[in-house]
Amino acid sequence: MITVDHLTAGYGKLEILQDLSLAFAAEQFSAVLGPNGSGKSTLMKAIMGLNTIFSGSITLRTRELIGMQTEAISKLGIAYVPQRENIFTELSVLENLQLGVRILPRDQRENALNELFELFPILGRRKPQKAGQLSGGEHRMLAIAIAWLSRPTIMLLDEPSAGLAPAIATDVFNILKELSQQGITLIVVEQNARRILQHCDYAFVLREGRLMFDGSAQACLEDEETIKGYLGVH
Ligand SMILES: Nc1ncnc2c1ncn2[C@@H]1O[C@H](COP(=O)(O)OP(=O)(O)O)[C@@H](O)[C@H]1O
Ligand SMILES: [Mg+2]
Repeated sequence: MITVDHLTAGYGKLEILQDLSLAFAAEQFSAVLGPNGSGKSTLMKAIMGLNTIFSGSITLRTRELIGMQTEAISKLGIAYVPQRENIFTELSVLENLQLGVRILPRDQRENALNELFELFPILGRRKPQKAGQLSGGEHRMLAIAIAWLSRPTIMLLDEPSAGLAPAIATDVFNILKELSQQGITLIVVEQNARRILQHCDYAFVLREGRLMFDGSAQACLEDEETIKGYLGVH
């Protein structure tokens, strides 16, 4: 669905991703793994039109994304939850969601919010609370919920479980599973390789901006060299 072909990309004059080629399949749950600094976030940003592209292409089905503005890329149905989320901490949960839902036509907004509170019951209970007062896990759920409100066909999530207590991380993984079952194509960067490999379909492992492994989650778990060498899992 998203095809990255011979992509070299980075920041300013700095090349981070080196001649990277990979493809994210439609309706699959793909994980992007690799050590810190390997270029995982850079790949997400490249897809969203947020960094310098030196060469190569990124296509959504047959449409070239390189050269498009981030907002136009979002409008093609790609929602992005960056590592540092864009939430208005002084506004309540409900106000944040009301801003998010404005992307939809007026007559669909109420339904979308009702559905959202079914999918994320915790946000229903926190409606009046200021977003800045939410726990880490609730804050992360709010960011995912806002991205989901735009009715995306593809969601890019950068380290959705980072910094969360294990039980809360489990809630996040369960939500991802549910989004995947709704048919949303998921592309998720994770530090917790072992955890996500139990949930996702496919894995890509980067190191120093290059693709080191590309295969099913099962194949990744069984590939000792990848697991021990690049993922630090023992
Ligand atoms: N805004 C930036 N300007 C310059 N270099 C950056 C910037 N952001 C990240 N980098 C560098 O790009 C490399 C890859 O970073 P990143 O994609 O964030 O890695 P990961 O998400 O895999 O931890 C790192 O060496 C990092 O220092
Ligand atoms: Mg990162």
